[in-house]
Amino acid sequence: MSAPILRVANLSRRFILSRAFLSRPAEMLIAVDDVSLDLAEGETLGIVGESGCGKSTLARMVLKILAPSSGRIELAGRDITDLGEREMRPLRRQLQAVFQDPMSSLNPRLRVRDIVAEPLRPLGLDRRTIAEKVRETLRLVGVPEGAEFRFPHAFSGGQRQRIAIARALVAEPRVVICDEATSSLDVSVQAQILNLIADLQARLGLSLLFISHNLGAVRHVSQRVAVMYLGRIVEIGTEKDIFDRPAHPYTIALLAAVLEPVVGQDVAPPLTGEVPSAVNRPPGCHFHSRCPKAESRCSTDDPALLPRRDGHLVRCHFPE
Ligand SMILES: Nc1ncnc2c1ncn2[C@@H]1O[C@H](COP(=O)(O)OP(=O)(O)O)[C@@H](O)[C@H]1O
Ligand code: SF4
Ligand SMILES: [Mg+2]
Repeated sequence: MSAPILRVANLSRRFILSRAFLSRPAEMLIAVDDVSLDLAEGETLGIVGESGCGKSTLARMVLKILAPSSGRIELAGRDITDLGEREMRPLRRQLQAVFQDPMSSLNPRLRVRDIVAEPLRPLGLDRRTIAEKVRETLRLVGVPEGAEFRFPHAFSGGQRQRIAIARALVAEPRVVICDEATSSLDVSVQAQILNLIADLQARLGLSLLFISHNLGAVRHVSQRVAVMYLGRIVEIGTEKDIFDRPAHPYTIALLAAVLEPVVGQDVAPPLTGEVPSAVNRPPGCHFHSRCPKAESRCSTDDPALLPRRDGHLVRCHFPE
């Protein structure tokens, strides 16, 4: 197997909400806790979990928008964790992103051609080459001819997301991170954009980190999937491991919540209870307050992320 194009090792991020004062202890929120994952070249790795579990914080650290509290990020074998803004500049085009809201991520005062051309600017290409690359990429993502001369507000949400995807792809990045890239779109448009992402990934051999709270969307595009809960990976494996043979009670509950119940079939109860606060995470297994399988050991012993016989990793004392 070739070396991963992206490697995240033991990445954590804490936020200090308030400092200690007199007898009051400091309030610390652990958004991402010791996350490790590899992305192979040409692979889509999905990251799924309820809102607040740390997906965007993880994405922002990998994109070098947010500094990690600890851990390491490697891009194509190079440690980029401590690279500053200036050192990152030549690497920026290798690491691109598509975010949830295409309206706020596209500058409304720029024409589409200038928006899409942005990652090409540092490459010192001549104007004709830039215009050609922009046109070619817009065609690739299915934006109609002539769009490059218009402004973002002239387009629908789906078209704007296509423009954002064109900008992410124009400079042939090594890794693309999609963070809830289809979550703000209507269901029918969502399907079109998911099909586009899956199609581009296969045709161009993109290496994608596809982040969404939407299990269906993640399943549609991912070859491997990581499930996060309260800042940690609780299960990671192939798309089939996660969707056909889930082993962590949280994954099973998440799936049960979106699947239609089959009459006569024994399905796990849907997820109940509040997500515990990331400020005061429960001791032991962080999922024990909501877990239908919890036993007394679960409230004191924190389970490790361990491999199963089929190779996929699960963080649970009593996996399925
Ligand atoms: N800048 C910040 N300051 C304090 N807490 C934050 C900050 N950014 C994110 N958080 C908290 O970190 C946790 C993870 O957030 P986030 O990564 O946005 O989750 P997700 O993308 O999975 O919804 C949440 O509890 C969120 O409130
Ligand atoms: S360790 Fe216990 S509480 Fe945690 S997921 Fe497994 S069975 Fe549930
Ligand atoms: Mg998010």
